[in-house]
Amino acid sequence: MKRMVSGIKPTGELTLGNYLGAIRNFVKFQDEYEMFVFIADLHALTTQQDRAQLRRRIKDVAAFYLACGLDKERVTLYIQSEIPAHSQLGYLLECTSYMGELSRMTQYKDKAAKGESLHVSMFTYPALMAADIILYDADYVPVGDDQKQHVELTRNVAERFNSRHGDFFTVPEPVIPKAGARIMDLQDPTKKMSKSDDSDKGYILLSDDLARIKNKIKSAMTDSGSEVKYDKENKPGISNLLTIYSVISGLSIEELEAKYEGTGYGVFKSDLAEVVCDHIGGIQEKYNEIIKSKELDEILDHGREVASKIAYKKIMKANHKLGLGRKR
Ligand code: AQP
Repeated sequence: MKRMVSGIKPTGELTLGNYLGAIRNFVKFQDEYEMFVFIADLHALTTQQDRAQLRRRIKDVAAFYLACGLDKERVTLYIQSEIPAHSQLGYLLECTSYMGELSRMTQYKDKAAKGESLHVSMFTYPALMAADIILYDADYVPVGDDQKQHVELTRNVAERFNSRHGDFFTVPEPVIPKAGARIMDLQDPTKKMSKSDDSDKGYILLSDDLARIKNKIKSAMTDSGSEVKYDKENKPGISNLLTIYSVISGLSIEELEAKYEGTGYGVFKSDLAEVVCDHIGGIQEKYNEIIKSKELDEILDHGREVASKIAYKKIMKANHKLGLGRKR
């Protein structure tokens, strides 16, 4: 069975973007692949975090994974920092990456261009991300559109390691959903919906109160005119809402355009708000049960055990390949 690995960093509450671009795919593929899903808590430290809040969010992400439909029987669910081999391989891959390629990573480039004061990890985290993936010899990595560049880097670093030290790491491929790969901000549909955004009006959180979600959708920025039509260039706001509607309801964009022909934005938005709230409401009910249960820790303990064994073997072999330690 081919293996899939992916994770999400607990830098904020999960958004509808994280759900539609990533988690939905984890759920979809869990029958087809051996699925490893983790909470990328080390990655959260690239920006300063509040200790208590981070700890709460780690559990929250885990509970939401399960509430969204990940099946504990089919998925290995674990916390990145509980498996030291991630950091260890991350360092080995920093020693395999070049300054030039890490400087081209969009997130670093954007933040550096703004003159923000950055931790060194904001520059080096893509090497850790590569480690997260190839430590488990993942064949596929299900991610949203914004992570494609990181998987490309992972491929390059894995290929470089293999060419220097002999075939050792599986070179992974990204799996990006056809629809929902980049859900945009509700107030500024030219930028991606992000969980650590300053304004909370642009994102929908899986933990948002349902009345709040309705308001956010009703006040989402729409474009001039009144036609419900998909046109990413000229109607980015409506196109984003159509995408959300389509992915959640399973109706095609064409079907939705036909359904709302001549109705104007108001009716469309109000129906969309119902559809989104129905869906997220179901997830929240399950989340509320899971977050209180003892089972969550048991699932994470089990995941750590399974993942640790694989990770330990791989990191020891990687060390050996590089000539580290004493083993002949
Ligand atoms: N808006 C989005 N649309 C579709 N997919 C998205 N993802 C994130 N935002 C969207 C996907 O969710 C996964 C989570 O990745 P992450 O949390 O590790 O990092 P990220 O991509 O940087 O997510 P955020 O929400 O934007 O976090 P912050 O604000 O902390 O930087 C990935 O598969 C991503 O593609």
